[in-house]
Amino acid sequence: MNEQFIKLQKCFESIKEKIDFKPKVALILGSGLGDYAETIKVEATLDYHEIEGFPVSTVPGHKGRFIFGYVGEVPVVIMQGRVHYYEGYPISDVVLPVRLMKLMGAEVLFLTNAAGGVNYDFHAGDFMLISDHISNFVPSPLIGENMDELGTRFPDMSDVYDKELRAIIKETAKELDIKLQEGVYVQLTGPAYESPAEVRMCRILGGDAVGMSTACEAVAANHMRMKICGISCISNLACGMTDNPLNHKEVQEVADKVAPLFKKLVTESIINISKRL
Ligand code: HPA
Repeated sequence: MNEQFIKLQKCFESIKEKIDFKPKVALILGSGLGDYAETIKVEATLDYHEIEGFPVSTVPGHKGRFIFGYVGEVPVVIMQGRVHYYEGYPISDVVLPVRLMKLMGAEVLFLTNAAGGVNYDFHAGDFMLISDHISNFVPSPLIGENMDELGTRFPDMSDVYDKELRAIIKETAKELDIKLQEGVYVQLTGPAYESPAEVRMCRILGGDAVGMSTACEAVAANHMRMKICGISCISNLACGMTDNPLNHKEVQEVADKVAPLFKKLVTESIINISKRL
C-alpha cells in the first residue's frame, strides 16, 4: 500500500483515539491570527507532537496544535501553526495536516496567511481574497503514487478557490465595512524574502501577493474535493517596491495590528458560509 497513505492513516488513528469531534470547517491560521482560538468556544486541543508521525513546526512563534471548537455554532478544527516547506519537510508532510482535517470530516478549508503585496495598488495592512494561485515554484504534493482513496490522479483546478465561498466572503466584508482586495497568490519556497527581480517576475506572471505557504495546501485539499477559500493579510509590500528592507518582526507587527479586523472577517465569513452549506 502507498506509504504516504499508511502514514496518514496512522496519524488519523492516533487522533481518533484522543478526540471525538467532527468539524465542518478547517481553518489554518497564518501570522497574526495565532491567538484566534481565544475568540472561540474551545472543546479540545491536541498538540501536534501528541500525534504519531506528525510533522512539527520549528518556526519561533508558531504554536503547533489542532484546536477543536465552535465559531458561533459551526464546528471547526483550527491549525494553530502550520508546517512550511522551507523548514525542510517533504511537501507531502507539509500538506498532511490538511489531509487529516478532511479525514476528520471537514468539508471546507479556510486558508489564511500573511503575504507580501506584489500589486502596486495594495497597501500594508490590506486583506486580499485569494482568487487563484501559482504553485509551480514548489513541488506538487500530488507527485508520487496517487492516493486513490483521497482523489483522482489528474484533478481539475478550474475553481480551486470556490466561487460561492468567495462571493460570501466579499458580502461579509462589505457588511463589516472591511476593505477587501482580490488577487492571485504566488507561493515561493522562502525562507528568504524574494529579491526585487523575483517580485517583478511574480507581477509579470500575474501574481498579486507572494508568500511561503497556502497554495500547496489548496492543491492537496482540491485533490480531496474540499471547498476552499483563502484570505491573505498583506503585511508588507514585497522587496524592492519600497525603500524599506524587510524583516520578520516588522512583517509580524503589521499582521498583529490588523489581526482584530482579520479575526472578525474570518469569524463572520465562517458563520455565513455555514448557513449556505
Ligand atoms: N514575501 C513572502 N512571504 C511573506 C512576505 C513577503 O514579502 N510577507 C509576509 N510573508
